[in-house]
Amino acid sequence: MHVAIIMDGNGRWAKERGLPRIEGHRRGAEKAEKVVEWAADLNIDYLTLYAFSTENWKRPWEEVSFLFNLFVNFIKKRISRMKEEGVKIKIMGRRDGLPKEVIDVWDWVEEETKNEKKITLAIAFNYGGRTEILDAINKIIKDGIKDVDEETFRKYLYLPDLPDPDIVLRTSGEMRISNFLLWQIAYSELIFIKKYWPDFDKEDLKFALEEFSRRQRRFGGI
Ligand code: IPE
Ligand code: IPE
Ligand code: MG
Repeated sequence: MHVAIIMDGNGRWAKERGLPRIEGHRRGAEKAEKVVEWAADLNIDYLTLYAFSTENWKRPWEEVSFLFNLFVNFIKKRISRMKEEGVKIKIMGRRDGLPKEVIDVWDWVEEETKNEKKITLAIAFNYGGRTEILDAINKIIKDGIKDVDEETFRKYLYLPDLPDPDIVLRTSGEMRISNFLLWQIAYSELIFIKKYWPDFDKEDLKFALEEFSRRQRRFGGI
């Protein structure tokens, strides 16, 4: 089971409380840590969290740099706990343009957790679905491949071994994909929850799994 989450609504959560947007992000990161625990508990094999999109660079630099620091600190602070819980961490996104501290932590966390087996946590960071597809196409061209089928194409995605999401869940009430995993979500079940990400709780995750079990997936068949 692969659950991919668009963690949305941190800014509005903060605004409603008269707090700065970054406070919402801080709470959002705390929630992300909890969700990894809940997911492991509920026997979810793969959890993907959308943490920073290629379009999020449009935000004020103050917020962007806060999100970079949050990513670095999130990993540094939580890595030993994550390892104890058997969490293998993979990062997916475009490396070009990211600060060195982010790249260093990216490589370090993947190496440190590569043998963990309970759950795989993929963090989409500086991730855009279109960018991922274009990066794949350009690598394919460089490799001189002239004829591409789905199987070949998949090998050029950022994380080729990550199965397609069964569920894409978005919080905050927005009902859009915002450039998330465009190739991989062809047949994912979409679930939208009208709560800001810092308010997301374990019951919401359970609800998503139950809702998923009620859906009839046909993959184009009958
Ligand atoms: C999601 O919360 C986190 C990121 C995109 C980094 P937002 O920051 O998008 O919060 P809203 O949507 O403005 O409320
Ligand atoms: C999607 O949320 C990106 C992440 C959660 C990291 P956004 O808040 O950036 O998406 P839009 O702008 O509402 O589409
Ligand atoms: Mg948002």
